[in-house]
Amino acid sequence: MMINKRLIGTVGESKKYIAGNVACQWVSLAANITMMGAIANLLQSLYEGTRSGLAATAVTAAIAVTIRYACAVGSSRMGYLSSKTVKKILREMIYGKLLRLGASYKEQANTSEVVQVAVEGVDQLETYFGAYLPQFFYAMLAPLTLFVVLSFVNLPSAIVLLVCVPLIPVTIIAIQRWAKKLLAKYWGQYTALGDTFLENLQGLTTTKIYQTDAFKHREMNEQSEHFRKITMKVLTMQLNSITIMDLIAYGGAALGVILATTQFRAGHVDLAGCILIILLAADFFLPMRMLGSYFHIAMNGMAASDKIFRLLDLPEAGQKTETVPAEHSIECKDLRFSYEADREILHGVSMTFPKGSFTAIVGESGCGKSTIASILMGRNKGYTGSLTVGSMPLSEISEASLMENFTYISHQSYLFKGTVRENLLMARPNAGEDTLWQVLEQVKLADFLRNEKGLDTMLNEKASNLSGGQCQRLALARALLHDSPVYIFDEATSNIDVESENDIMAQIHALAKEKTVILISHRLANVANADNIYVLENGTVAESGTHVHLLTQNGTYAKLWNAQQELEHYTKGDAE
Ligand SMILES: Nc1ncnc2c1ncn2[C@@H]1O[C@H](COP(=O)(O)OP(=O)(O)O)[C@@H](O)[C@H]1O
Ligand SMILES: [Mg+2]
Repeated sequence: MMINKRLIGTVGESKKYIAGNVACQWVSLAANITMMGAIANLLQSLYEGTRSGLAATAVTAAIAVTIRYACAVGSSRMGYLSSKTVKKILREMIYGKLLRLGASYKEQANTSEVVQVAVEGVDQLETYFGAYLPQFFYAMLAPLTLFVVLSFVNLPSAIVLLVCVPLIPVTIIAIQRWAKKLLAKYWGQYTALGDTFLENLQGLTTTKIYQTDAFKHREMNEQSEHFRKITMKVLTMQLNSITIMDLIAYGGAALGVILATTQFRAGHVDLAGCILIILLAADFFLPMRMLGSYFHIAMNGMAASDKIFRLLDLPEAGQKTETVPAEHSIECKDLRFSYEADREILHGVSMTFPKGSFTAIVGESGCGKSTIASILMGRNKGYTGSLTVGSMPLSEISEASLMENFTYISHQSYLFKGTVRENLLMARPNAGEDTLWQVLEQVKLADFLRNEKGLDTMLNEKASNLSGGQCQRLALARALLHDSPVYIFDEATSNIDVESENDIMAQIHALAKEKTVILISHRLANVANADNIYVLENGTVAESGTHVHLLTQNGTYAKLWNAQQELEHYTKGDAE
């Protein structure tokens, strides 16, 4: 019910810690029983006026307390060890899985969910293994042990106490049935409020510009109020369930007291026995009562493990071992691709990118250019038609080889928080200072960086302390260092200043003389000197050829070219 076999099997290593934890708690219980036994006997002898055994009882009690202390330390240590093991094993499994899924993991899982599962999900399981599971076993073991001991003292009382214990889990289950719906609603409200808050924060500037803050404010207030109400409901439910559990636990203990005294009166048990039953009655219920308070943890843990297993169970492609051949001309024939069923994006695209050539892909936004680039980089997998590199199907080439041979630069290349040097060295770990400065000169970033802290200039997350143009220059420098045979530029110069665009284009054109370059650009002036230009329209190749050829065709390309030329001359004329 609340024990997931697969989960425990997955982190089998934690079994020994759980067993150790239960053992510590059990020994502690045994020490307690012994101590209570000694005290009960002492009380009886005092009652009878013999006064013997005072010293012996004191010693027994001292030893028992020491053992209990050691057990408490041991049990929390075991809890810690099993949490640690679980965290380590599960995070390693998730990480390994993501590596095996590779660059196309986004096709199957979304990033925020992966992060949530790996961080929060695993943390929840930590408590599940460290506290809930040991308590689960101990809560069954403790009443049974007490039953065995007390059955020698007075069987009827022992039986009644044992029979009352299961009332606690039964009520918990009844409450949980009903609470599940409430909790689902609670989480819904919680994430909705979180989403709204995040969105409002990210869109704050826009909100201010359009002066819609009053409306957003009201919206947030309403959602917060909903959330407050549901939180109160959940708290009420939790408090009520604790009250009910307490009623059963202490009601059961009280029943034990009543039973013990009636049995004593009837002469079925001596005074020491009666006192022992009274002293131990509560211990029948307390472990179960404790388990009840861990129940929500178990519920969360179960939900988290479902998510983790869903991620771990995602299908993986078989291990690919082929490498990119030296003769690496790329050819796609009748390529079809859809992100979603019923909405095909590429309707049979055929293109060739001969080794060492400079090929451009142009077309209106949304026609499928980036989709083609993603397919070439192995990020979009579910295509049909053929796609080969040399004579090798791209689908058989290992990701490592593909990444080594194909370099992809988009308009949002990822720059990491850290120094410029660290960002550059990821492309060529053994590059010397001179080489680094040389590429920085090439992209005309050297002067700027010399005025900063050189290669040790720190970048913020996503390089937010650089301008858009500087970011792209740095991304290009990193790509140049990578020195791969094939380069794919996907709108690498969009949204940046004209000077940066021209500098970067000059580098790309120089690169195209030595390497295989695929250039995706919305600005036709950038592609005019390409060996071949593909004009993509709604996921099909409308025309192709050189710039001059396409102009004489007087088709889409010619129209776009004329429109852009006019616009550029107009802008220039305006400036003069
Ligand atoms: N991850 C995605 N999921 C669903 N549809 C997508 C995704 N990425 C792109 N598309 C759709 O595919 C089409 C082509 O997109 P894209 O290749 O990015 O165009 P381009 O780069 O030519 O501007 C668009 O209609 C876009 O809505
Ligand atoms: Mg695009």
